[in-house]
Amino acid sequence: MTQDELKKQVAKAAIDYVVPKLSAQEILGIGTGSTANYFIDMLAEHKTRFRGAVASSDASATRLEAAGVPIFDLNSVDSLGFYVDGADETDAQLNLIKGGGAAHTREKIVASCAKQFVCIADDSKWVTQLGKFPLPVEVIPMAREAVVRQLGDLGGDAVLRDGVVTDNGCEILDVHALDIRDPVALEAEIDHIAGVVSNGLFARKPADVLLLGTSDGVRIIYRPL
Ligand code: A5P
Repeated sequence: MTQDELKKQVAKAAIDYVVPKLSAQEILGIGTGSTANYFIDMLAEHKTRFRGAVASSDASATRLEAAGVPIFDLNSVDSLGFYVDGADETDAQLNLIKGGGAAHTREKIVASCAKQFVCIADDSKWVTQLGKFPLPVEVIPMAREAVVRQLGDLGGDAVLRDGVVTDNGCEILDVHALDIRDPVALEAEIDHIAGVVSNGLFARKPADVLLLGTSDGVRIIYRPL
């Protein structure tokens, strides 16, 4: 199967996992990226089963609206039952690297409000240790070079993602060569650098369940307790 076919397969698995659990009043959190896009497209035919969605990016909000799904501002919502999103890397503890689509700050915010984070990914994203995929870090533009230096002190080689402005009006650094043996500690350490908006490690709050697309079918992997 191609990577695209695997992404469609996990998007369908997420529909089968989430939709039967939805109530008419439910608001879903929805992520960003090509796998999330397949999920949004498939969600359209189930739009009467739930109330609407909070989107993690302007792009996903536009796609959801086109699919006929009402969009809610997170500030008007108390809690979300599910957050469904892709990832750039996942390990066996369901710690993730996200932000390849420059949306990880809002993704982390929306995910933090959900009772269950359902991650959908093809098996090219499965790794034994996070960090081959450069870690996205969103930065306030005037702090960029100061943050680059401090990421260098942590062993990272930070490169500005050219021409990208996030939905929050900020910039993205892609950080290569980090040793991510302790993702929980590194997530906190990077977030404490002045000028960092947020980084793409999802380890303090990892995914709760991973639907992993393989050519032998979708594996359902729960976060080890
Ligand atoms: C968006 O910023 C990312 O976190 C995406 O969720 C991640 O890059 C996965 O994208 P794909 O589903 O396109 O691989």
